[in-house]
Amino acid sequence: MPRLVVVSNRVAPITEGQPTAGGLAAGVMDALRESGGVWFGWSGEISPDAAFCAPIQQSLGQVHLHTIDLTRKDYDEYYRGFANDALWPVLHYRPNLARFTWGDFAGYRRVNQQFARCVADLAQIDDLIWAHDYHLFPLAEALREQGITNRIGLFLHTPFPAPQIYMTNPAHEAIARALCHFDLLGFQTETDRQAFEDYVVRQCGGHAQAGTVAAFGRTVRTNIYPIGVHVDEVRAQATDPANQLAAARLRASIAEGRLIISVDRLDYSKGLQQRFATYEKFLQAFPAAQRNVTFLQIAPPSRTDVQTYQEIRAELEAEAGRINGRFAELDWTPLRYLNRGFPREVLMPLYAVAQVGLVTPLRDGMNLVAKEYVAAQDPDDPGVLVLSQFAGAAQELTDALVVNPYDSEGIAQALNQALTMPRNERRERHAALLKTMRHNSLDRWRDRFAADLAG
Ligand code: ADP
Ligand code: F6P
Repeated sequence: MPRLVVVSNRVAPITEGQPTAGGLAAGVMDALRESGGVWFGWSGEISPDAAFCAPIQQSLGQVHLHTIDLTRKDYDEYYRGFANDALWPVLHYRPNLARFTWGDFAGYRRVNQQFARCVADLAQIDDLIWAHDYHLFPLAEALREQGITNRIGLFLHTPFPAPQIYMTNPAHEAIARALCHFDLLGFQTETDRQAFEDYVVRQCGGHAQAGTVAAFGRTVRTNIYPIGVHVDEVRAQATDPANQLAAARLRASIAEGRLIISVDRLDYSKGLQQRFATYEKFLQAFPAAQRNVTFLQIAPPSRTDVQTYQEIRAELEAEAGRINGRFAELDWTPLRYLNRGFPREVLMPLYAVAQVGLVTPLRDGMNLVAKEYVAAQDPDDPGVLVLSQFAGAAQELTDALVVNPYDSEGIAQALNQALTMPRNERRERHAALLKTMRHNSLDRWRDRFAADLAG
């Protein structure tokens, strides 16, 4: 297999023991650890003289990281502006939250050109160049302008929205044209792949045939590659005696009570406001749960300089206070809301302690938390996953309790069903989920994408 050169905006945390920001960094790091390779991206730092291509190099085992800083202007236009304020909401079916400017789009292209210059310096003739996510839609076009002839693929970790939603972004055609410069486009689900194909065929006069899309004088292959987790590794982390301190404290603090856990970046796509409202409905509808059930929401702040993220944070703080004010007793706090990240070796045992994993995004590319929750469970006495039908994971994890995140009453019923589910049924559902997850493993995700890109 040729060497992999991975390119993404965010790279894995360089300091060990730091929490990982999001599924991309967690997934790519786990996938690259065994195969090795080069990983290029943003350092996470802003500095005034970042415009030059002198990447900082570090190695994590066989993974060689090359990172550059961004200037304030680049950060504002490319990352905060176009990627997170204009593209992210549209990709997650929330065009009403999008803020588009052509200036930000120009900055987005400029940073992609800069990334392309750095990658052109790094890449050797036979390398496979594998770009990740919506920050890098123009990368292949920019690399071709640099004269790079390597095979270049893109995997999209987020959803690709239905054409009429996608077209609310005024740069939709320029982006689609840029995407057609890749050799391979990978999506999480068939829904996403089909949406891209429909847009290109119906709106750009393109043609689709047997997994290829032809438009703008180019032909690109498309396929689906659902990202997974290392199932055995998650369970090993969840049960490692050295990792049990925080989980034991949590367990002791709820005594004989039952625990529902949710873990998300603090993002409006994750449906946190709706989830809090649902939990309130649940406590109302099932009074026996009061005093006996605790809901733990872990949600580290994300993209804190984007206004929509500031608004949702303030709203959630108020709601958590209100719900606790309404239901709490001297010895029971119904909702525990923690605005912080945890290292993976602390987080995995926390999943294992919870009887229910509540994962209800309004839209999500995949949602690795759902898969981590299942993998962390004791197969002999597992917890139950309650999963939104709008997470990519729901297309594989059909043995979860699949719910509509907008249906509070339906989710309240599902929570009750999960908390009272007989052990046999829990074991059967868990075994079926694990089987699917072992099949769609992280190694398979990497190997299939790399083989298709090489072939
Ligand atoms: P996204 O990529 O949108 O953030 P995913 O669910 O796919 O969503 O991936 C989230 C990843 O980030 C998971 O691997 C999860 O373990 C990690 N993560 C999320 N929240 C936290 C947290 N509070 N502390 C540590 N890791 C977290
Ligand atoms: O796929 C989800 C994702 O958007 C990744 O692209 C990103 O790295 C992660 O979530 C976290 O977001 P950010 O990098 O903006 O902190």
